[in-house]
Amino acid sequence: MQIAKSVAQMQTICRELRTQGVVLGFVPTMGALHKGHLSIVQRATAECQTVVASIFVNPLQFAPGEDFAKYPRTFEQDSRQLEAEGVTVLFAPDAKEMYPEGAVTTITVPGIGDRLDGASRPGHFTGVATVVAKLLQIVAPHRAYFGQKDAAQLAVLRQMVQDLNFDLELVSCAIVRDADGLALSSRNQYLSGPERQQALVLHRALAQIEQSIINGERQSPTLLQIGKNTLDAAEGVQVDYLAIVDPRSLLPVASAEKGALVAVAAYVGRTRLIDNFLVT
Ligand code: PAJ
Repeated sequence: MQIAKSVAQMQTICRELRTQGVVLGFVPTMGALHKGHLSIVQRATAECQTVVASIFVNPLQFAPGEDFAKYPRTFEQDSRQLEAEGVTVLFAPDAKEMYPEGAVTTITVPGIGDRLDGASRPGHFTGVATVVAKLLQIVAPHRAYFGQKDAAQLAVLRQMVQDLNFDLELVSCAIVRDADGLALSSRNQYLSGPERQQALVLHRALAQIEQSIINGERQSPTLLQIGKNTLDAAEGVQVDYLAIVDPRSLLPVASAEKGALVAVAAYVGRTRLIDNFLVT
């Protein structure tokens, strides 16, 4: 596996790969890789002849006071895992390489980018859209792979790809969970033992809503109340949002019909966790 640290080197390598006629898949990450990330890489390698990945903890998507400085960085282990999964090239720039002095252009997706996580983390999705646009320009993949875990991020990126005519297919990949249901996240490392247990309430609340839908309840207010009761009863958990929305616009829907997104964000201690499911 080649490791490219500069934009110019990554562009040269990817241009060369494209001229060879291979289908190029791309998996962007911030590192601290877990089985969720690796399942995305596995899907990409199954569907594309050549897969490139990136590890970049993007300062632009963290607000002051958020966890940019303490975000886990495990580069050696990450690169070994990506190599073992068959990744051909790893792009690992530093912040100065991605945002050289004088860089001023950003990408904002108004509306969608201000909903759910965008409402609680102002500016977050401008940071995400800007870095992903840059990465997509640098790599120019045929397919780019993202996790359904970050459902609002996916909606923002879909809109951006459509509006800016990125010539690629955006692929969403299923959420990978621990055996007890907790969605894997690099931020789970922040949780203490007791918090790890408390964090299970996110999945539990979603599972209750899902079961109620299966039992025939479709009204969003009723379903949200069911989830909220469970979340409110949990110790050490502060709900940020619980919402039933259209997965593309992220606007609330009155009824949880097939395809609706049920999403939750909550603080467990000081750690902000998210989870969701799509109504089937
Ligand atoms: P990061 O949090 O490292 O996640 C990288 C990719 O892995 C994202 O597409 C995310 O949705 C996916 N992912 C995370 N946990 C997952 C899980 N449990 N199951 C399945 N997929 C999961 O998301 C980012 O980085 C950044 O915002 C990025 C897109 C790289 C831009 O900086």
